[in-house]
Amino acid sequence: MMREKIIHFNPIIPKLEGVAVKSSQTRLESYVDHYLHGNQEPDLTKIIYEVEYHDNGLVEGCKGGLFLGISHVMPGTVGNEFYMTKGHIHREKDTGEYYWGMKGKGLLLIVFKDNTYKLEDVTEGSIHYIPGNTSHRLINTGTEKLSVGACWLSESGHDYVNCHFPVRVFKKGEKTIEVSHCTT
Ligand SMILES: [Fe+2]
Repeated sequence: MMREKIIHFNPIIPKLEGVAVKSSQTRLESYVDHYLHGNQEPDLTKIIYEVEYHDNGLVEGCKGGLFLGISHVMPGTVGNEFYMTKGHIHREKDTGEYYWGMKGKGLLLIVFKDNTYKLEDVTEGSIHYIPGNTSHRLINTGTEKLSVGACWLSESGHDYVNCHFPVRVFKKGEKTIEVSHCTT
């Protein structure tokens, strides 16, 4: 008997395909206050990023499972601050996660409990281990869509409130500059 193929990875675009793929879009209006000059942005309906994931039947919060997804962050800026994800820390704070770059160019911001941080270059093929107890977000510093795969534990959950990001990343001419000691 043939096995049903319920999900497929298309590496060209890249994207997930199949009946068991779900997706969600995040518009600027839902987190405009995360940007330094968000209140000056005229079009709040813009979709800044999209997350697609394998709906494998697990319920977030259950123990022992894994989730797989791809985040797509559009290219662009709000003011001159690069488009980014909301960012989060895991509800089960001591759980880690893997990200890997698929297409585009950007940064992964990882912030530790003591407010120190690191920015990792995300490029096609780059692999990123995100330790537990860290806030993390993606920033698209390139000119095309940034697509990043992710695998995380089913018990991790997402907390968008108790995370902190003490650095912003701006476009200055053709350069990318980071400015620390900002709060979001
Ligand atoms: Fe995460």
